[in-house]
Amino acid sequence: MNINGKPMRTIWVKPDGFPVEIIDQTALPHAVKTVALKTCDDAAYAIQAMLVRGAPLIGVTAAYGVALAMRDDPGDANLDAAITDLAAQRPTAVNLRWALDEMRAVLAPLPEADRARAAFKHAAKLATDDVEMCRKIGVHGLALIRDIAAKKPGKPVNILTHCNAGWLACIDWGTATSPIYQAHAAGIPVHVWVDETRPRNQGASLTAFELQQAGVPHTLITDNAGGHYMQRGEVDLCIVGTDRVAANGDAANKIGTYLKALAAHDNKVPFYVALPSSTIDWSMAKGSDIPIEERSPDEVLNITGRLADGKIASVAIAAAGTPARNPAFDVTPARLITGLITERGVTTATPEGLLSLYPERRSGGLAVA
Ligand code: MRU
Repeated sequence: MNINGKPMRTIWVKPDGFPVEIIDQTALPHAVKTVALKTCDDAAYAIQAMLVRGAPLIGVTAAYGVALAMRDDPGDANLDAAITDLAAQRPTAVNLRWALDEMRAVLAPLPEADRARAAFKHAAKLATDDVEMCRKIGVHGLALIRDIAAKKPGKPVNILTHCNAGWLACIDWGTATSPIYQAHAAGIPVHVWVDETRPRNQGASLTAFELQQAGVPHTLITDNAGGHYMQRGEVDLCIVGTDRVAANGDAANKIGTYLKALAAHDNKVPFYVALPSSTIDWSMAKGSDIPIEERSPDEVLNITGRLADGKIASVAIAAAGTPARNPAFDVTPARLITGLITERGVTTATPEGLLSLYPERRSGGLAVA
């Protein structure tokens, strides 16, 4: 997608093969900054401090982190240490573990001398595969939007999304936003309700920015407003992303997603979850087993933004000493999910629905696009 008219991805490698570069998402939307990742520690820090975030992008950044580690020392001990360190940075998005498992499977059998080159090559493949999976998610989600558009000719399809499951959370296209971008490109009128997504405000700072850059009509709303617009018939469907889907179809996503699914259910608004197969955790039977990241209470107690003079500042929004908790994700039960939009098509959030799209999993094989 474009930033200020320039095509960009969220992570790339300099033309001579080093370093890896990312967009620093903590600076958006007020500044577009790129940061160079030169070591595995740089990649781990970028994931932990959320310079990069979003399940698919976390996975690909970790893959490049392994490549950077192999560039420094391709030995077995360093491969193990890099994977252990990167895996510990964020617990909920299964794409992180998935990407690291992929890297280990490719690198461990190779002679040390071949590992760095192979690692960069495989990390690039994971990035390219993610772009293609997200493009296909968009094709399948577009059909859903087209069906709704046909029932309200000349009027925009109103889509509510939560957090940022856009191209900034992936490599390109996004998951939840890919159908929206493709509908917009196809000339279908769409309008997006963007949940601000406290406490880190990924909706306000990232999704609204993305949609603005792409010229897609959108309106930023508080996290508490979605139910109100659903009651008034002003939301045609919800599309959100996910950090991990359990084998039974339960989906973990940014905190607050569950409340939107409850409101959608009460108002008979279709609620879709968009995901690449790298986000399915076939080893996890149900969503209540998904580890939920607990982040610093400081994110709840303070808010960061741009002052009138252009300076970025963080201000306290509660009395000093106020206790706060900050679970970063919640789990939406499968029964509240109308469908899962994957790179292989749309299916029900059930074990059978998932297995119908990924039949190789019936015998324990690998899920591939
Ligand atoms: O904490 P974040 O910003 O990494 O959370 C991101 C989300 O919850 C996204 O919705 C999810 O990763 C899906 S990304 C396509």
